[in-house]
Formats: sequence, C-alpha cells, structure tokens
Amino acid sequence: MNNKLALYIHYPYCVRKCPYCDFNSHAISGASLDFETQYFEALVKEFKLFLPYFDDRRIISVFIGGGTPSLASVEFIDKLIQYFAPYLQSDAEITLEANPGTVESDKLKSFYQSGVNRLSLGVQSFNDETLKKLGRIHNAQDAHHALIKAFQAGFTNINVDIMHGIMGQDVSLALEDLKQALSYDITHLSWYELTIEEGTYFGRHTPALPAEDMLADIENNGFELLKKHGFERYEVSAFTKDKHYCVHNKNYWLFGDYIGLGAGAHSKLSFANQTLRKANEQDPIAYISSCTNNSFYKVADNEIAFEYMLNRLRLFEPIYIDHYFQTTAQSFDKIKLQLEQACKLGLLILDDKQYYLTNKGKLMLNDVLELFL
Ligand SMILES: C[S@@+](CC[C@H](N)C(=O)[O-])C[C@H]1O[C@@H](n2cnc3c(N)ncnc32)[C@H](O)[C@@H]1O
Ligand code: SF4
Repeated sequence: MNNKLALYIHYPYCVRKCPYCDFNSHAISGASLDFETQYFEALVKEFKLFLPYFDDRRIISVFIGGGTPSLASVEFIDKLIQYFAPYLQSDAEITLEANPGTVESDKLKSFYQSGVNRLSLGVQSFNDETLKKLGRIHNAQDAHHALIKAFQAGFTNINVDIMHGIMGQDVSLALEDLKQALSYDITHLSWYELTIEEGTYFGRHTPALPAEDMLADIENNGFELLKKHGFERYEVSAFTKDKHYCVHNKNYWLFGDYIGLGAGAHSKLSFANQTLRKANEQDPIAYISSCTNNSFYKVADNEIAFEYMLNRLRLFEPIYIDHYFQTTAQSFDKIKLQLEQACKLGLLILDDKQYYLTNKGKLMLNDVLELFL
C-alpha cells in the first residue's frame, strides 16, 4: 500500500458560533488563558502516537482548520509549522482557514512568513443582509478587505468559501456573491448550499429556505457562471482555476491517509490487512487531558467499499479500476456487481479500465452510494 499522507490540525474556537454550523467549534470566551500552550503540547503528544505508522512517508499537506484558526496567535501557528516541518514534503501545501472578521494585515503577513502558503477565507457572502441572516461576525466590507489584505500579505493561492440557497435568496442575489468573489484573482472557490444541521440553532429554529426549483436554478446558473470564468468543477462543491486543486481535500476524496490532530479530529491509516480510524474528544479541555489515549479502531471490512465510494465519487475524475485495490487492499470484485448495477440504472459508465458517474449519476449520487451499503 502506498497511500499519501496528509495532516489536519483542528483549532476549536470561534468568536461566536454561527447558527448553521455543526463543526466542532466553541465560543472563544470559553477558552482558558493558557489554552494555546496546553493545546500545542497536546497536539505534539498526540502526533507522537502516529510516528510508528509513518513508514517512509512525508506529509503532502497540512490543513489548519476549525473553528477559526485565524484567531490563533501568530506565535502558535509559527510554532506548529516549525514543529511539523521536518515531517513535510518540501512542497507541502499548508492551508489556514480564516474568518474575514478576524484578519489584521500584520497577522496575515506573519502567517504567510511562517509558511502558510494557501489561505481559505470563509466569506460566505458579499451581501450585508445575507451575512446578517447567517449570523456572521463580519460584513461585506470586511470580506473585501480580508481579500485585499490576503493578496498584500503575499498569498497567491487563495480559496473563498461562499454559501448559497440562503433564506430569501434568488438567482441574482446568489450569483452576485459569486461575481464579487470572481472579481479577485483567486485560485479556488468552494460553493456550498446551506444545509440545516441537527443540533444547530437553525436545526431548532428552522428558517424557510428557497423552494427546490429555485435552488436548482441557483445551482445551474452558478455552475455556468463559474465555468465561464474558467473555474473547473472537480468535486461536488469545489471549483478551481488553472488546476489549483486543494491537495489536502483531494487526498480525502482519493481515499488517502490522514492524521487528524486536535479536538474532534479524525484520522485514517490504511494497511494491507486493515484500515484504522481514530476520533478525538470534541471538547477542547477533554481533548487536552485525553490526547494520548490510543483509541485506534479497525474499520469493518464490509464498510470499506461504502467509505471508499463516499469519498471517491465526490471527485469528478474517472476512477481507475486498480485504484480500489491500491488504496484499500481489497479486490475489485467487492464493488464490481454494484458498479454494474449503477451502469444499468444509467448512473455510471464502466469499461475494462475505469468508471465514472454520468450527469444523471452526479445528480443522484446518494442513489449510487446506497448500492454500496
Ligand atoms: C469550518 S468552516 C471554516 C471557515 C471559518 N470558520 C469561517 O466560517 O469563516 C468551513 C466552511 O463550511 C461551510 N459551512 C459550514 N456550515 C455549513 C452549512 N451548514 N451549510 C453549508 N455550508 C456550511 C462554510 O462555507 C464555511 O466557511
Ligand atoms: S466561524 Fe466557521 S467554524 Fe466558526 S461557527 Fe462560524 S462557520 Fe462554524
């Protein structure tokens, strides 16, 4: 097995919780004064649990996500990157997620100088009303300023997160957000439809969302606009210009391996005879005291095909038949029947080397996945 290895580091705090968000994020007012010192030590201790599983692999990408890692001090991010540097491939992608309400010019410059080479800005919208509906801490002007400051700091590989399908949104409002984002020289855009998640404020007080056909119109028009601006849709919600694919996310979708450090982070490591996973305590304080718990568990053999498809089918690239064996060590026969069934339903095209989703299959991804359950 020769799976690539990526590193995710979770920063669990935000200024405040957004009403739609079910990520493991907590209001920073709950953080202890010496949180960063304790958290850094915990991350390092947890990382050491993984060293026996490295073989001769170098880490291809680091993703510092959250939460809102741009809230962290410059010293904390610098210390992290310095610590992990010896384990990284020389051209490793190092992404940091930033909320436009938390970025000062000096801080962005320092992050860049510390080695962060990809910035992911959680803009969501450039419309003040929409941002208010989403309970964001920033307004449209902050979003524009964050982008300008990011370029000034030296970043050339920038992703912008935009959400759509928001209360009261029509095609022209949704497209206006995309147009604003596309007016900057960004390399990547993540365009997410607002989903109502259980356990969130919106889950408890569900707002009225645009009707299904409006959502479809927004999507189709958005896809067209992005294409016209040279953005390739390479995953369900990910678009890139000039092939600046997100190395980190692509590794998940290609069923690569990853080490996830920090509160609520997940890890996956594959071996010829088993696939191991690990899931951390969600609460930051509980994580700090349990970081050396060796809680690896084996994924049941009959769950691997579904997990593989769940990730791999998100990526709109033909899938080589050999890839299943290369990443899971399981025979292609384990998935062949289901793939043939998907072909009969017009959801997939399979030949003797590769297979890929048809347009119908892309729209009915869940139906394809159900075949592997
Ligand atoms: C972990 S957040 C990272 C960025 C940073 N915390 C922020 O919000 O600015 C990742 C992205 O997921 C998207 N997201 C989070 N919750 C979502 C939801 N319920 N529906 C759709 N997109 C969501 C947002 O676009 C968000 O920027
Ligand atoms: S800032 Fe980002 S991670 Fe934090 S609550 Fe909002 S969407 Fe979630």
